[in-house]
Amino acid sequence: MRALLDTVDKALDHDVNILILGESGSGKGWLAETIHRFGSRRDEPFVHVDCAAIPVDLFESELFGFEKGTFTGAVDRKAGRLELAKRGTVYFDEIASLAQSQQAKLLRALEERRFTRLGGAGEVHLEARVVSSSSADVNAALRRDLLYRINVLTVTLPPLRERKEDVARLAEGFARNAGKRVHADALRLLEDYAWPGNVRELRNAIERAALMTDGDTIVPSALPLAEPAELVTVAARDGWTLDELEARYIREVLRQTKENYSRAAEILGINRKTLLEKRRKYGIE
Ligand SMILES: Nc1ncnc2c1ncn2[C@@H]1O[C@H](COP(=O)(O)OP(=O)(O)OP(=O)(O)O)[C@@H](O)[C@H]1O
Ligand SMILES: [Mg+2]
Repeated sequence: MRALLDTVDKALDHDVNILILGESGSGKGWLAETIHRFGSRRDEPFVHVDCAAIPVDLFESELFGFEKGTFTGAVDRKAGRLELAKRGTVYFDEIASLAQSQQAKLLRALEERRFTRLGGAGEVHLEARVVSSSSADVNAALRRDLLYRINVLTVTLPPLRERKEDVARLAEGFARNAGKRVHADALRLLEDYAWPGNVRELRNAIERAALMTDGDTIVPSALPLAEPAELVTVAARDGWTLDELEARYIREVLRQTKENYSRAAEILGINRKTLLEKRRKYGIE
């Protein structure tokens, strides 16, 4: 994530088009807004175009706008999203869901940096920066020339399960916004969960837990995790070696017994001496 943000940071004040890839909930919309907020265009509009939600036959009027009287119901001239974005940022969300005909029209506007309102004669200049996102395979869905146009810089947000270090930081941030803290045991549970819904699921989990929590600390039992991950599931998924699994298990037993070595050895079914050897072997403090 740090390398990714560094790359984005370098591109902030250059007008390159940025394509953000990543699973649903991984933070594509968040990153697009962050790019806008920290870039040179921050005082101009940020306009969201939800490509998956705009019906095919409304695409052009939404994007380019229309002149008064162009069609029934066009009682007034209306600016399209590209025009509303002015010198700000236009964010094409789920761009891979655009139909071929829509792609052709968008490509033309991007290439020529200008377009006409439906039913209009005059041209409008496209001055906004273009940021796009997709959770689907853009190579399969988009025509080459459009893809080249929008992905001068491509950044891929890793799924949350592949950036464990972010889980605690994000969880604490979401909790702080709700006036809460997260108990260390709860953080560990969060870190071991696979987060199929990525950051969105984490945010929801923390916000719900915060509502359920009367005190100021969110404890494990308050967390609404869909399927608490079995340790072995986590281990296999993340490719732990047997030694790692053993080391972590020993560390956890020592923690739970408050470092009572006799008691820990009993639980582990080994003698105290073996436990001390393993502790040294694994560098357990
Ligand atoms: N790095 C982050 N810091 C703080 N909040 C984040 C971060 N990443 C994501 N979020 C939050 O997580 C939620 C999900 O993120 P976002 O909506 O950007 O995901 P997305 O990739 O656009 O998902 P979708 O593909 O479903 O549209 C949002 O509430 C967003 O604000
Ligand atoms: Mg989104």
